[in-house]
Amino acid sequence: MARDGAVYACQSCGAVQTKWAGQCPACNAWNSLVEELQSRPPGALAPARGTSRAKGLAFEGLKDETPAPPRITTGVEEFDRVCGGGVVPGSAILLGGDPGVGKSTLLMQVAAEAARRGARCAYISGEEAVEQVRSRAQRMGLADAPVKLAAETALRTIVDGLKREPFDLVIIDSIQTLWSDAHEAGPGSVTQVRAAAGELVRLAKSRGVAIVLVGHVTKEGTIAGPRVIEHMVDAVLAFEGERGYPFRILRGAKNRFGATDEIGVFEMGDAGLREVRNPSALFLNTSGQRAAGAAVFAGIEGSRPVLVEFQALVAPSAYGTPRRAVVGWDSGRLAMVLAVLEARCGLSLGDRDVYLNVAGGLRITEPAADLAAAAALASSALDEALPQDCVVFGEISLSGEVRSVSRMDSRLKEAAKLGFRRALGPADMDGGNGMGAIGAGRLADAIARIGEARWD
Ligand code: TYD
Ligand code: MG
Repeated sequence: MARDGAVYACQSCGAVQTKWAGQCPACNAWNSLVEELQSRPPGALAPARGTSRAKGLAFEGLKDETPAPPRITTGVEEFDRVCGGGVVPGSAILLGGDPGVGKSTLLMQVAAEAARRGARCAYISGEEAVEQVRSRAQRMGLADAPVKLAAETALRTIVDGLKREPFDLVIIDSIQTLWSDAHEAGPGSVTQVRAAAGELVRLAKSRGVAIVLVGHVTKEGTIAGPRVIEHMVDAVLAFEGERGYPFRILRGAKNRFGATDEIGVFEMGDAGLREVRNPSALFLNTSGQRAAGAAVFAGIEGSRPVLVEFQALVAPSAYGTPRRAVVGWDSGRLAMVLAVLEARCGLSLGDRDVYLNVAGGLRITEPAADLAAAAALASSALDEALPQDCVVFGEISLSGEVRSVSRMDSRLKEAAKLGFRRALGPADMDGGNGMGAIGAGRLADAIARIGEARWD
């Protein structure tokens, strides 16, 4: 009698029997019946058999030693830092950004610098011809770097090519131009983008080659955004920049091999992207007197302090509904700060237009910027400039308190290095280093100081 769930399939003709026999009743082949398990209801697990029992689930302790993954340092330090200290072999990275922000430029520099350091690099473009890529590289002074170029969009050809030749780092520009003949959908469709990414990620893992995929982010949604493959890759980096500003910020959005709050700062010039090693003073307007409505925020981006100017304009509203416009900061956060200014400090801005701008095209996400925004708004509304040598930071609660923030010492040290002498911030901040700490327990205290120009 056959065991429950077990059947016997002939390896010669495929006929299935419920009982074992020495000869297949269907094709008369001898010794061809082998026990197989029938498909069972969903959720039922097959009993362990033969070799699968020997390879059971192996548990390990949390504190067991794991060697740190090896890294390819590309030589573009800002890029390496955002990746967590270089690119991990066998990993897949997605670099997203608006068209024209400089993704191709950045990755050509990364490939060229890595190749100069001995890594075997390939740059596969589905958007530009080899001549275009080459002439851009020449303009950027990278013509001597031993990077292998190809212009190709057929996934099969790319995968076959990468299997034939060993590489350490491969750039695919872009994932939306690839097409796989296994799917009928057009290039750039969700199906194609997923299929191409899946195949390339598998290739990266099996060959130990690091692959960087470029993904265009489009607001129109005409091509599938890189979001659909974010879960497949090991790291997602975003390349950002405001139109009209030369600065470009590389930000980690996901990273299995490093922190995600690091940023890399670049400046776009005639010969490609220049790395900005010390960005703290980059977003600061150092020329001239600080006007009413400006406050310098001492922020932290990733591991580095960055000083940036918040500019506010509060003006009488010409229309029934006052305008609220914000660039470089969260509009929800602005609404909250305005509400707290009104409810806890008696500063009524409800019927006035409010504009808030973060200078230099940087996007600030830290809650520590609340007080800087509030100070800039109050300074504009009260028409009283903050002292030239004063930085501001602190988180504001709905009850109107100024809360303590992380790494206050680093913020103060950086501000002192750049010539600032005063800091308006949470009450528990310590001065020192020639910095005068102006603690404000409540937002109302800080606003009163601004209104009365009380700074000693
Ligand atoms: P690109 O890298 O092609 O953008 P993406 O790949 O993200 O679409 O960069 C395009 C822009 O960068 C283009 O507007 C020109 C500018 N650029 C420079 O200003 N200097 C340079 O050296 C290069 C190569 C590009
Ligand atoms: Mg490009």
